[in-house]
Amino acid sequence: MRKEVVLITGANGEIGHGLITHLGREGKVDIVALDVQPLDESLRQYCLRSIQGDILDGMLLGRLVAEFEIRTIYHLASILSTKAEYNPETAHRVNVEGTLNLLRLAVEQSGWQGRPVKFIYPSSIAAYGLPDLETKLNAGKIKEWMWLEPTTMYGCNKLYCEHLGRYYTRHYRQLAADHTPNTIDFRCIRFPGLISADTVPTGGTSDYGPEMLHHAAQGVPYACFVRPDTCLPFMAMPDAVRSLLMLESAPKENLKHLVYNVTSFSVTAQEIYEIVMNAFPTAQITFKPHPSRQAIVDSWPADVDDSAARKDWGWFPEYNKERAFNEYLIPAIKERYGVKV
Ligand code: SER
Repeated sequence: MRKEVVLITGANGEIGHGLITHLGREGKVDIVALDVQPLDESLRQYCLRSIQGDILDGMLLGRLVAEFEIRTIYHLASILSTKAEYNPETAHRVNVEGTLNLLRLAVEQSGWQGRPVKFIYPSSIAAYGLPDLETKLNAGKIKEWMWLEPTTMYGCNKLYCEHLGRYYTRHYRQLAADHTPNTIDFRCIRFPGLISADTVPTGGTSDYGPEMLHHAAQGVPYACFVRPDTCLPFMAMPDAVRSLLMLESAPKENLKHLVYNVTSFSVTAQEIYEIVMNAFPTAQITFKPHPSRQAIVDSWPADVDDSAARKDWGWFPEYNKERAFNEYLIPAIKERYGVKV
């Protein structure tokens, strides 16, 4: 008998840390973790197996299919928006071909199991692309189908992979005589910028939020790469993990869509600065906008409409701006870096 497991790709990344810690502590599922980097020591205790490997390695994925009965895949591996701009074709390979490999793996597993494997996919506000700042400022809360003209390779990749998820779920092998819809069970969340107390993201463009906070707590000077008035939606990591688990466990018949916005609070870089300075008064933070990164953030919405997620699977954030900073981020970061209260 093959062992029933949950597969998490990009396990060593930001969401991976939060998700594995949560699922591991809960202890209800066996986790197989996959990442190109070795999995952090702190996470290994929670995993049945941790594999260092590449989602582009077909042989490796083939071995996973043979060895495990994979019930759910959390496909978190990706190259984020800023890093992707330095090598767009590599980003495309990892973000799109990598996702395609995992979707095929899911189809194969679903066939063996005779039931659809759940495929949980984090997309992003980067899937949106507003043409200019004025449009962004007047756009209000953006719904899932609006302004889908991303300006980054990462955003294009995320949007396209949402389409692939829909294709594999509903239309894969549509001309085959034995075609059955719902081959896999693809469920996708478009995340806003995420902030964690435990990890700092690498290569994203919403990173100025978490970077400001983590640098300040460590007493390291930080130059914020966007203007003070720059506004984005953000979410604390515990809510991000919660949203993935809520979507995973939602009854299929309640899900009217395959792709859902979620958000928690919209905040300007100036507001983050003020909160951070209040918590760490000796912090050295300056603003030094980077024109290209600024342009990317200016193309992302200041707020998104997550009413479909609220309606279909009962989504609501537990951490608004005040709770996120005062009850989670600042105390946990102070403890992490040993800042005296
Ligand atoms: N946080 C991501 C990035 O900045 C967006 O999803 O690339």
